[in-house]
Amino acid sequence: MTLRIMTIYGTRPEAIKVAPIIKAIETADGMESIAVVTGQHREMLDQVNTMFSIVPDYDLNIMSAGQTLNEIVARVITGIDGILEAEAPDAVIVQGDTSTVMGAAVASFNRQIPVIHLEAGLRSGDISSPFPEEANRKLTTQITALHLAPTATSKDNLVREAVSENDIVITGNSVIDTLLFATENLEVTFDDERLEALSAARDAGTAGRIMLVTAHRRENLGEAMVQIGQGIADLATKYPDLTVVFPIHRNPKVREAIRPAVEGLQNVLLIEPLAYAQFTKALSLADVVLTDSGGVQEEAPSLGKPVLVMRENTERPEAVVAGTVKLIGTHRQRIVDEVSLLLDSEEAYNGMANAVNPYGDGRAAERTIEAVRWKFAGGARPVDFGDDRTV
Ligand code: UD1
Ligand code: UDP
Repeated sequence: MTLRIMTIYGTRPEAIKVAPIIKAIETADGMESIAVVTGQHREMLDQVNTMFSIVPDYDLNIMSAGQTLNEIVARVITGIDGILEAEAPDAVIVQGDTSTVMGAAVASFNRQIPVIHLEAGLRSGDISSPFPEEANRKLTTQITALHLAPTATSKDNLVREAVSENDIVITGNSVIDTLLFATENLEVTFDDERLEALSAARDAGTAGRIMLVTAHRRENLGEAMVQIGQGIADLATKYPDLTVVFPIHRNPKVREAIRPAVEGLQNVLLIEPLAYAQFTKALSLADVVLTDSGGVQEEAPSLGKPVLVMRENTERPEAVVAGTVKLIGTHRQRIVDEVSLLLDSEEAYNGMANAVNPYGDGRAAERTIEAVRWKFAGGARPVDFGDDRTV
């Protein structure tokens, strides 16, 4: 019997995290992959599919400028429904907490197709932050058949919510599979000439310090995003030897908030989103990372980079506990103070610059395949990530 597994995704971070899973399904004995993109994102999604040579079987192409949450969810449910009817897969995989995830999970549940949820069980404990992601993830949990938790902490969250341990496997986060794949080849070059020159200067030991920035969270749009831009401008002025590399999200609301403060500053490189391999190279060049991204919070610690997170809370506490990630909020002065501390104090810097890997070991895709076989084809239960380490 062939298991027909449909993977549905729509945004950049989902694409990055499902890529190794889709590749593993494609080559797994007794499995067939059906890749479906909603197109909640466009350029940023396509960049990832191109890098991994994934050609989706279906593309709903739903993105519109200024799309509202309800527009996304409505288009996802309606569009996915017809594909589910036509393909009747044995199970559907969704990853994470976006509107695509919640909509696709609801559509699959309503057609009585089992949902497999990757990156299950992350919780900030605050339904309004991240918004609407905390709610999306919890809603998806309610209708999931197989929960693939990245860490023991996320499994504990699920068990506390009365999810049966018999429906949970700890796989590690597949973002580390993707990261390891990409960093095996850091010989990539940058399309942006200024960034390529910075990389050469880094090799020559003349680059000064480098801070990598990303920002896009819905709850940071508006005044918080303006303050983020101003804090970055203050830092660029205070530290002339600092280069800020800021691949800016495609969301126009991010761009209009950030641009006025930083435009004209020579040492702020405001650039288009980087292809994944280039972004990981930029991460490897950076001394400090300033972000509100979920994925970057998971990747940077494994490269030993101190991460300042522009949020009040996080559903990813593991690297905070390990001391590599610090929550600093979004106030202009706090951003300036926290970055300055890292740039001015070797002790503070060394205290945070530790390579830690709480999120995975690069084998999440392998465990995911085993978990799917266990749940749907009578295979053996995989050993949880963390329980199978050979020291
Ligand atoms: C979405 C997710 C968020 C995730 C983020 C990753 C939801 C509710 N939010 O937020 O959880 O962290 O993706 O980046 O699902 N745009 C483009 N081209 C692109 C991508 C976006 O032009 O390739 C623009 C469009 O104008 C779009 C806007 O960005 O309307 C916002 O995109 P949307 O998916 O609604 O929200 P994100 O902030 O990207
Ligand atoms: N990323 C990328 N290019 C960029 C910026 C980020 O490939 O210019 C990657 C990054 O490595 C991480 C992911 O995008 O894996 C994070 O996406 P985002 O911050 O948009 O979403 P989140 O993780 O917060 O949901």
